[in-house]
Amino acid sequence: MAFRLSLMTNIFPISEEESFWSCQMTDNLSPIDKAKFVAAKRATQYVQSGMKVGLGTGSTAAWLVKCLGEMVRDEGLRIKGVPTSTRTAELARQVGIEVITLDEAKWLDVTIDGADEFDADLNLIKGGGGAHLQEKIVATASDQMVVIADISKQVETLGAFPLPLEVIPFGWQTIKTLVEEALIGMDVLGRTTSLRMKGDAPFITDEGNHILDLHLNRIGNPRQLSLVLNQIPGVVENGLFIDICDAVVIGYGDGRVEVRDINEGTVDEMKYDFLTKDNIFTDIAD
Ligand code: 5RP
Repeated sequence: MAFRLSLMTNIFPISEEESFWSCQMTDNLSPIDKAKFVAAKRATQYVQSGMKVGLGTGSTAAWLVKCLGEMVRDEGLRIKGVPTSTRTAELARQVGIEVITLDEAKWLDVTIDGADEFDADLNLIKGGGGAHLQEKIVATASDQMVVIADISKQVETLGAFPLPLEVIPFGWQTIKTLVEEALIGMDVLGRTTSLRMKGDAPFITDEGNHILDLHLNRIGNPRQLSLVLNQIPGVVENGLFIDICDAVVIGYGDGRVEVRDINEGTVDEMKYDFLTKDNIFTDIAD
């Protein structure tokens, strides 16, 4: 059984149903997962056959990869995907998306990815999954970056989510001290830093690096902070995405989706109605 799509545009709801979709899903999704799902589903409209597509990392991006995989399988969508992590690469292959490297692609039509926070200017904090280095490279090498997120990711000011900083393992404790010293001159509310752990061992990124999480609470000047952090020796990349994101697709637990396009200055809304009990994705790991 399919779920029904009813489309609303420019904030004014249009109640008529426009079409049926073949995408099936479970009826026991939590509201947050429904929000992620509908954001991902709506974002597939940015993807057309022949495109090279950057595939983000995280639970929201995983929904996108699954939806695109379904379109490849059922609708003959032909795309080449550039994953931003080994786990996204695995999932993309599982659902039948052709995977190529960034160097093979050279440039991408669109990258669709999740975020940990986004503000009104569509500046982001990313890296909650530890993949922001590849994510930032891939997004920057794309005509367009689209963020998919549930509404909880929207903030007035960035910084409540700890800012991830990828650092090389050599001398990471010294790098941590250098970062803390640099933070003294920055417009932030907190200045503690912590090494990200996975169980008893440091978390290791796909590039073999560590992540320092910066507990800043409030980032007054994200652009300045991003520049300062990236100048510290041993810092590979920070999780601030400034002027990279072009549009955000925001999902709500009741099936509503809002699309904000920063370049066009537009806001569109639509709503998905869930009518199904089936779930084609249960056997596919995130
Ligand atoms: C991974 C990321 C993710 O996009 C971010 O953490 C959001 O993840 P999720 O969609 O699971 O909330 O930046 O490095």
